[in-house]
Amino acid sequence: MRPRVPVIAGNWKMYKSVAQTLDFFEKFKPLVARADHCEIVIAPPFPALAAAAEAARGTRIRIAAQNLHWGSEGAYTGEVSGPMLAAAGCSHVIIGHSERRQYFGETDQTVNRRLSAALAAGLIPLLCIGETLPEREAGQTESVLIRQLEGALAALTPAEFSPILVAYEPVWAIGTGRTATPEMAADAHRVIRDRVGRLFGRAASEKLRILYGGSVKPDNIKGLMARPEIDGALVGGASLDPLAMAAIVNF
Ligand code: 13P
Repeated sequence: MRPRVPVIAGNWKMYKSVAQTLDFFEKFKPLVARADHCEIVIAPPFPALAAAAEAARGTRIRIAAQNLHWGSEGAYTGEVSGPMLAAAGCSHVIIGHSERRQYFGETDQTVNRRLSAALAAGLIPLLCIGETLPEREAGQTESVLIRQLEGALAALTPAEFSPILVAYEPVWAIGTGRTATPEMAADAHRVIRDRVGRLFGRAASEKLRILYGGSVKPDNIKGLMARPEIDGALVGGASLDPLAMAAIVNF
């Protein structure tokens, strides 16, 4: 028996129009109709969120945005707020993805502000952390994970922390076809759970779902999910294909 209900999430990044989103859901829904062993989350780009939420209505599939601003409204051209995402039918939001840290100036401090805004809007944050290849090679994986966690979660209470999901996504494994081995992922997940225990107590750490992300495919999901430390997956490229994503959900 698994200690926690798994979460399989798909991050579509900057892929799929509304029409392509509807096509995905038409094919994906029947393939996961009986998948009650896990929670399923799909994160389309902003313009497709409402259509995805409508297409997923009445199913167990939940919809996530890929980012949010920390304000609720205001003169911030190009930004989208938590209340807007909730109103569009989102239940979850990805925060702090490495692509946002790498290309859009995201820091642990802005991640922290976005996390608080997501919680205030009643959204479940999917917090992404992970080391780069030079950091891993320099033996800094553990310290990077701890710094990102502590920065993101600064000043939260255990009650505020409780809905949060964490995704461990080693940057060197994203979009490279180079997956972390189940052992490497499990080691990182133990570091994360241990730190959450120190910050928010043992009950919070035992309840926390930690997802692995980075080149997850239908042919490696089973090995990853065989580890009790790994509570699910955050899937990029393979989540764009309804057949591949369904195979991953039905691991
Ligand atoms: P890939 O599965 O394409 O490596 O992407 C992982 C990811 O970044 C999910 O957020």
